Amino acid sequence: MIDKINQLLETVQAFQPATSAEIEEFRIRMLGKKGALNALFEEFKQVSVDRKKELGGRINTLKMAVQDKIAALKADWENADTEQRNDDLSRPGSNDRLGTRHPISLVKNQIEEIFKRLGYTVAEGPEIEDDWHVFSALNFAPEHPARDMQDTFFVDKENEILLRTHTSSIQVRIMENQQPPIRVICPGRVFRNEAISARAHCIFHQVEGLYIDENVSFADLKQSILYFAKEMFGEEARIRFRPSYFPFTEPSAEVDVSCNLCAGAGCNVCKGTGWLEIMGCGMVDPHVLEACGIDSQKYTGFAFGMGVERIAMLKYGIRDLRLYFENDLRFLSQFDSVI
Ligand code: DAH
Repeated sequence: MIDKINQLLETVQAFQPATSAEIEEFRIRMLGKKGALNALFEEFKQVSVDRKKELGGRINTLKMAVQDKIAALKADWENADTEQRNDDLSRPGSNDRLGTRHPISLVKNQIEEIFKRLGYTVAEGPEIEDDWHVFSALNFAPEHPARDMQDTFFVDKENEILLRTHTSSIQVRIMENQQPPIRVICPGRVFRNEAISARAHCIFHQVEGLYIDENVSFADLKQSILYFAKEMFGEEARIRFRPSYFPFTEPSAEVDVSCNLCAGAGCNVCKGTGWLEIMGCGMVDPHVLEACGIDSQKYTGFAFGMGVERIAMLKYGIRDLRLYFENDLRFLSQFDSVI
């Protein structure tokens, strides 16, 4: 009987199922009514009293070994990868959660796609810049308040190294290195020394656009922006231009789009006006063209700049800028990753 018990112990230790059904067969063979253990207990009844203690102990050890083995095999099977488990075609499919893109990336990608269709290329530039590319080449007067530390983060004040406050610095770099025709959009992160609130942040994203060629006019600018607005906000979107001022454009304008939440009727997002401001733009000032080595007698161009956070707010009805930076999954998982 001892031999039989030892043999069974070896069988238990060596047992390796190929399918989950084999584990069940094994359980029945060992622990079932007509299984090996019951046969042993049956035999045990005949054992003489003096050997009962020893043999009883061994049979119990065997029984525990069988139970432990089955429990371990079942647990392994549950955790095994699908390749091993694919014998069971009725199992529910695995429900892997896909990540979603950040709304800022979604909108930035969409802006890029729209302008690429108009023949624009995409360019980037450094976040740590110098005074020339962010201010001087763009016609900012020496005493302009943006050059103050209260508005701009300086990395090295003495050498006028700073974090760019707008992506217009990239258009300077493009014009310095390329002759017209130029048709480019420049997405990027920008930095301003602002207190953080629902409506302002010290880090945000802009997309800059620049188009320079012979005979480029304000009408071309209007038509490009109208195309953009319709692609971004829908075919029924309308735009209007309000006169404005930027040091690097002349004339300059701010662009409003009809409120896509109330279709222009007036709501609390557009503060009852029916219009939402989406960007600044204008004809590139001849001073800027000359500062960047482009002949302002021969060429004209337009530029525009928009805030990505703002466009995303209007598109998705987001009310607080801080949500973009908090990485709260309840917020982020609401955005489907289409592009
Ligand atoms: N750089 C401006 C800003 O940060 C936005 C802007 C306005 C860009 C007009 C332009 C433009 O290219 O023509 O507020």
